Order: sequence, then structure tokens, then C-alpha cells
Amino acid sequence: MIRILTLETTCDETAAAVVTDQLEVLGAMVASQDDFHRQFGGVVPEIASRAHLEQILPVIEATLCQARISLDDLDAVSVANRPGLAGALLVGLATAKAICLAMDKPLIAVNHLQGHIYACRVALAQQAAAQNDDCCDIFPCIGLIVSGGHTSLYRCAGPIDFEPLGSTIDDAAGEAFDKVASMLGLPYPGGPSIQRAAIVGNPKAHRFPRAMLDDPQRLDFSFSGLKTAVRYRIAGPGRTDFSQIQLSQQEIADLAASFQEAAVDVLIGKTVQALRKTGMSTLCIGGGVAANARFREKMAQAAEEHGFQLHIAPLNLCTDNAVMGAIAVERYRAGLFEPLDLDVFPT
Ligand code: KG4
Ligand code: ZN
Repeated sequence: MIRILTLETTCDETAAAVVTDQLEVLGAMVASQDDFHRQFGGVVPEIASRAHLEQILPVIEATLCQARISLDDLDAVSVANRPGLAGALLVGLATAKAICLAMDKPLIAVNHLQGHIYACRVALAQQAAAQNDDCCDIFPCIGLIVSGGHTSLYRCAGPIDFEPLGSTIDDAAGEAFDKVASMLGLPYPGGPSIQRAAIVGNPKAHRFPRAMLDDPQRLDFSFSGLKTAVRYRIAGPGRTDFSQIQLSQQEIADLAASFQEAAVDVLIGKTVQALRKTGMSTLCIGGGVAANARFREKMAQAAEEHGFQLHIAPLNLCTDNAVMGAIAVERYRAGLFEPLDLDVFPT
């Protein structure tokens, strides 16, 4: 059995896991930094780096303890070294290198975005193991990554063979959730706050724009117009300052529900266009926004309506985690190891 320690510090979660070549998860921990960033309404890179520094060793120790193994028992160490915040990535990379150097283990580099899609593969393997079944594959597929930093579509020929098809030309979907939540006075992270507020809201109360849907040949997204439309709806047409405006709970709920509906419609619309354009019939989705209940519900409806196979990462594997770093198993099998002067690639 191959056992790999996977590390994830690309943004504001410090995470580690021990996974096997059968995609079994022997141990997994995520230390969230939400409490540190909440008062700023978004991730502060310098705070993120410092928090990673404080948390990375305790998180690794707890993960190994849960897996009931020591560093000696590992076959390799992997780390997400792209994309992400430079200072945050460096903490994970330096830690992984130190372990590899001290314990004479091979180092594996993980692309965080490929990991988000691979979370679907790990979930399938876990499901198959629980049912004593053979695991089916998710590749080739269209991959949709919807997170705080990325909103992108890929043609994924295999786990480490991604061809970009399109991405956001301005804000990421999660960023729009976070910024609109902040406009509505809802706490960070904005996605779960909007989802909660929207439960009692009317998604048809406001007709917000659904950008880019009229051009099925172009597989890009745009969310800044939607964000500005919400701002104008709060402050009044053409006005941006809403600091003096008091919204009722129902107004907040209606704005949250209408925004969420528009964002979800755009994500689903462009993804269906990608499936049509490429002729692919399997879709895999990962990233924090994929945790959104309305998104999951409407995407499942779209899969039925348009007849494609849908895999969405389970809730605990949507937001950043190290279990998705199990994609390192694929690189281990292919003999893709890195020298110890490996760098980070923030963009
Ligand atoms: O994948 P992730 O943890 O980090 C990045 O790689 O960016 O995604 C974080 C993003 C945040 O913008 C957060 O607001 C959003 O995912 N998010 C959600 C939900 N849960 C997290 N957005 C909408 N609905 C949710 N339930
Ligand atoms: Zn992510």
C-alpha cells in the first residue's frame, strides 16, 4: 500500500491528509482561518500566511495521529504549489520540502484546481468501497471549478491533463458571493451567509443580469456586472453609496435569493453550453461554491434535462481540503516527482 501525506495551504485553510493509492483516506484535518478574516470581510494574505505558519505543524501531527502512522511510514509528501496566495503557498511548500529532506521522501506537486475536480474521483472511490463495488472513472469529463478565486471550465482528458475552455473575465463566483454578502451586511464567508439568507427570500423579487449566456461559443463567465446590479438595487439607480441605507430582513433575503438565482443560472447555463460545444457527457464540479444547495439542486435538474452524468464533490470536499490532494497518487504512479528547489506558482 502506498501512503502519501498531502498538504494544502493555497488560501485560508491549513489542511493535511494521509491517502492511499486506493484513494482511502487514513486521516484528514482542516484548520479554517475564517475567524481571523471575518472582521475584514475577505482573506487578508499576510494574516493567512501567518496563520498557516502557526497551524501547519499541529495539523500534520494530528493527521498522522488519526492515520496511526509516523513520517517514516510515508511513501511520499505532496503539496499544492499552484495557484494561490504566494505567501500561503510557500508555507505548505517549505514544510513539504523540509519533511522530504529530513525523511528522504519524494516530493509531489499538486495543482490545486485539478485537485478540486479530483475530489469527485475520491468521493466515487469511497462510495464504491463502502458498497464493495468497483469504482467507475470520471474521466474524460468537463470540469467546472467554482471557488473564491476561480471560475473556470476545462476539458479534462485525464486527472492531470486539463485543457482550459473558459474562465471568468473579472470576479470569481465565490468572490461575488462574498462581496454581495458584505453589501448586505452578512458575515464572511459570504457564500454560506447568502445561502442561509436566501432560504426565506423570493428569487424572483429582482431580475438581475445573467451575463455571457447569449454567446454559446464563448465559454467565459462574468460576475462583476451582477455584483454592480445588486449594489445599484440597494443604493438606487446609478448610486454606489449604500452606507446610510437600512434594509429589512425581508429585503436582504429577497436580494440574496435573487442574486443567488442569477449566479447559479449563469454557472449552469455556461456549463451546459460547454457540454454541448464539446460533445462531452460527463461533468465534474468542485470548489467552495459547489457547496451551494440551490446550485446543486438546479445542476441536478439540468443533468436530467440535458442527459449528462453529473459528479459534484461532497460538501466536505467542496471547500479547500487536503483529501483532494489525493490526485498526487496519479503523479506517484506516473513517476512525476519534483526536485527540492521546486517553486510556487501563484497564478
Ligand atoms: O474552494 P474554496 O474553499 O477556496 C478557494 O479555492 O477559493 O472556496 C471558497 C469560496 C468562498 O468565496 C465562499 O463564499 C464560497 O466558496 N462558498 C459558497 C458556499 N460555501 C462556500 N458559495 C456559495 N454557497 C455556499 N454554500
Ligand atoms: Zn480552492
